[in-house]
Amino acid sequence: MASSVLPFLFFLLLLFLNPGFSQANLHHSKTLLRSTLPSQQSPTDDTIAPPTLFFEVTKPISVPHTKPCSLTVLHHDFGYTYGKSPVLANYTFPHDCSFQEFSRIVLEWNATCKGRQFDRIFGVWLSGVELLRSCTAEPRPTGIVWSVKKDVTKYSSLLLMNKTQTFSVYIGNLIDETYTGVYHVNVSLYFYPAVEKKGDVGSETGSKADLIIPFSRDLPLKDGLWFEIQNSTDVKGKEFEIPRNVYKAVLEVYVSFHEKDEFWYGNPPTEYIVANNLTDFPGNGPFREVLVSLDGEHIGAIWPFTVVYTGGINPLFWRPISAIGSFDLPTYDIEITPFLGKLLDGKSHNLSFSVTNALNVWYIDANLHLWLDCNSKTKGKLLHHNIGPLVVSSVTDFHGLDGKFVTKATRSISSTGWIKSSYGKITTISTQDLSYRNSMVMAKDGNLQTVNQKIRFNNRIHSNMPGSSPKSKKTLKRFLFNMYYDYSNQGNGASLTVANVTLGFNEKRLKDKVRNLQKGNGLMAVKDNLVVNGVGNTSQMYIYNGPKSCYSRDVSSSNYTILHDKVRKNCKTSFGI
Ligand SMILES: *[C@@H]1O[C@H](CO)[C@@H](O)[C@H](O)[C@H]1NC(C)=O
Ligand SMILES: *[C@@H]1O[C@H](CO)[C@@H](O)[C@H](O)[C@H]1NC(C)=O
Ligand SMILES: *[C@@H]1O[C@H](CO)[C@@H](O)[C@H](O)[C@H]1NC(C)=O
Ligand SMILES: *[C@@H]1O[C@H](CO)[C@@H](O)[C@H](O)[C@H]1NC(C)=O
Ligand SMILES: *[C@@H]1O[C@H](CO)[C@@H](O)[C@H](O)[C@H]1NC(C)=O
Ligand SMILES: *[C@@H]1O[C@H](CO)[C@@H](O)[C@H](O)[C@H]1NC(C)=O
Ligand SMILES: *[C@@H]1O[C@H](CO)[C@@H](O)[C@H](O)[C@H]1NC(C)=O
Ligand SMILES: *[C@@H]1O[C@H](CO)[C@@H](O)[C@H](O)[C@H]1NC(C)=O
Ligand SMILES: *[C@@H]1O[C@H](CO)[C@@H](O)[C@H](O)[C@H]1NC(C)=O
Ligand SMILES: *[C@@H]1O[C@H](CO)[C@@H](O)[C@H](O)[C@H]1NC(C)=O
Repeated sequence: MASSVLPFLFFLLLLFLNPGFSQANLHHSKTLLRSTLPSQQSPTDDTIAPPTLFFEVTKPISVPHTKPCSLTVLHHDFGYTYGKSPVLANYTFPHDCSFQEFSRIVLEWNATCKGRQFDRIFGVWLSGVELLRSCTAEPRPTGIVWSVKKDVTKYSSLLLMNKTQTFSVYIGNLIDETYTGVYHVNVSLYFYPAVEKKGDVGSETGSKADLIIPFSRDLPLKDGLWFEIQNSTDVKGKEFEIPRNVYKAVLEVYVSFHEKDEFWYGNPPTEYIVANNLTDFPGNGPFREVLVSLDGEHIGAIWPFTVVYTGGINPLFWRPISAIGSFDLPTYDIEITPFLGKLLDGKSHNLSFSVTNALNVWYIDANLHLWLDCNSKTKGKLLHHNIGPLVVSSVTDFHGLDGKFVTKATRSISSTGWIKSSYGKITTISTQDLSYRNSMVMAKDGNLQTVNQKIRFNNRIHSNMPGSSPKSKKTLKRFLFNMYYDYSNQGNGASLTVANVTLGFNEKRLKDKVRNLQKGNGLMAVKDNLVVNGVGNTSQMYIYNGPKSCYSRDVSSSNYTILHDKVRKNCKTSFGI
C-alpha cells in the first residue's frame, strides 16, 4: 500500500526555498531532479518492525583489548536545525580517567531516525578543528539506526588538553509535514590506554601532531563552521601564525560538494547548456580541483573522490549499504613542511581555498597539524617550488541534446625545503602528480547519460636527514566512477529510470593497500510524482592488505535486504587480489 508522496521534486525550486541544503538529487538533462526514498508506508504497526541497520563498509578500527575510558560528549535530537546555531557542548577530557597515555582514541556517532527525510551533510568540530564530515542516512517509516566510528587519535593533542573546549555539530535539517525525520544522535569518545611501551596498537611515534590550527569559520554562526565556496573565483581562508619551533607541518583538508555541484562529475560543458537553453541546469563541465594557497600562491591540489550521498542517483542503492565515503568523507593531506622556512618568521600568513570551475556550493575547511621541537627554535628554507600549469584538453561534440564530451587533465606540483631542528637538518621533497579523465555521453535526446571517470593521485614525500637513511612515503590513489542513467518519459505523468553505478578507489601506500568497489543497479518507476515501484541492488567488495593484518568484506543487498555478507580476516583466505 503505497501512501508516500513527492519522491521527486524540482531541485531548483527547493534551492530557492532552502539555500545551503545538501539534497539528494538526480541528474536529468532537462530538469534536475532529486528524490528521497520511494518509500512504502507499512500498513502494519510500524513499531513492530525493528529499525534497519545502515552501514558503510570499511575496515574496523583496531583497538587494544583493554577497557577504554569513555565519554558521551553530546546527546541531541536534530529536528528543524537548518539556519540555526550548531549544537554546542562543553568538552573536557574525562577527569575520572586514570590513564594519561593513549594508543587509540575513537569517535562514535550513533543515530536513529524514523519517517521520511533527505540526506543531510553534517560536520563535527572541536575548538573549530573538524573531526568528522559525514552524511546522514535516509530513514524509512519503520526506523533506521546507524553508527559511524572514526579513529581520531591524530587529534590527541586537542582531545587531551586540560581545558574546557567547545564541541559543535551542525546538520541543516528541515522538518515539515512531508519530511518528518528527526535525527536522534549520541556522540561518544573512547580513550584506549597504551598497553605496551613499544610496538603498541597506536600509530608510529611522532605521528600525532603537537598542535592543530583550525582553518574554519568562528562561532557564533548559524551554519556549519566550513567555508562556503560559491563559484570559480571565490577564495576563502584565514590568517594564521605558527610557533617558532615547528619542524613538520601537514594540512588536512575536508571537502564536500552540494547543490549545483553535488554531481560535478556529471555536469556537461557550458556550451551544451547554452546551446540548448538549459539555463537552470548545472554546467562548467565535469572537472573540479580544490586548490590550497599560501599567501596567494598555489601550494597543493586536491582532485576529490566522487562521494555519493545517501539519496544520490537511486536512493535504494544505499539502503542499507551506504556509498563509499558517505558516512566518513575522505580528507586530503597536503605536505607543508617544505614551506616552513616562510612561515617561521613569527608573522601572519594567509591560507586559502578555491575550487576550479566551482558552482554553488563547496564546503571546505582544514586543520594544520604541527609538530614542535621541544628544545629549540627551528629554522628553514624553501629551496624550490613549482606548480605546473593545469593541462586540460576537452573534446566537445554535440548536436542538440545528444553528444559526447571527453575531458582530460593533468597537474604536477613539487616543493623542496629544509628545516633545521634539534633532530638535525632535514630536507623534505614533496611531489603531487595528478591525472584525470572523464568521458560523458548524452543520448536519447539527453535522456540517457553515461559518465566514465578516472582520477589518479600520486603523492611522494621524501625526507633526508644527514647520517641516516632517507625516508619515503608514497601514496598512489585511483578513483573510479562510472554511471549509466536512463530516463524515459512514458507519458501521462509516468516515467521509468534505469541507473547503474560503479564507484570505487584503490589506495596503495608503502606497506598496505585497499581496494574498495561498489556496484549498484536498479530502476525506479514514477507515476504522478510518486514512485510506484523500484529496485536498488548493490554489491561491494572491500579488501585491505596490511603488513600485520588483512580484512575483506564481500556484501550485497537488494532493496533493504542483505543477500550475502562474508567477512574474512585471514590474509591467506582474503578474496584474491
Ligand atoms: C559551557 O560552560 C559554560 C561555563 O560553565 C556555560 O556558561 C555554558 O552554558 C556551557 N555551554 C554549554 C553548551 O553547555
Ligand atoms: C553505538 O552503536 C554501536 C553499534 O550498534 C554499539 O556497539 C555502541 O554500544 C553504541 N554506543 C552507545 C553509546 O550507545
Ligand atoms: C543515546 O543515549 C541514550 C542514553 O544512554 C539512549 O537512551 C539512546 O538510545 C541513545 N541513542 C542512540 C541513537 O544511540
Ligand atoms: C589541569 O588544570 C588544572 C587547573 O589549571 C590543574 O589544577 C590540574 O593539575 C591540571 N591537570 C593536569 C592533569 O595537568
Ligand atoms: C562568486 O562568489 C563570491 C562570494 O559569494 C561573490 O562575491 C562573487 O560575486 C561571485 N562571483 C561571480 C562571478 O558570481
Ligand atoms: C534558445 O533560445 C533562443 C532565444 O530565446 C532561441 O533563438 C533558440 O532557438 C533556442 N534554442 C533552442 C535549442 O531551443
Ligand atoms: C591576508 O589576506 C588579507 C585579505 O586578502 C590581506 O588583507 C592581508 O594583508 C593578508 N595577510 C598576509 C600576511 O598576507
Ligand atoms: C546494468 O547492470 C545490470 C546488472 O549488473 C546489467 O545486467 C546491465 O547490462 C547494466 N546496464 C548497463 C547499461 O550497463
Ligand atoms: C536485483 O536483485 C534481485 C535479487 O537477486 C533480482 O531478483 C533482481 O532481478 C535484481 N534487479 C535488477 C534490476 O538487477
Ligand atoms: C523495493 O523498494 C521499493 C520502494 O520501497 C518498492 O516499491 C519495491 O516494491 C521493492 N522491490 C522489491 C523487489 O522488493
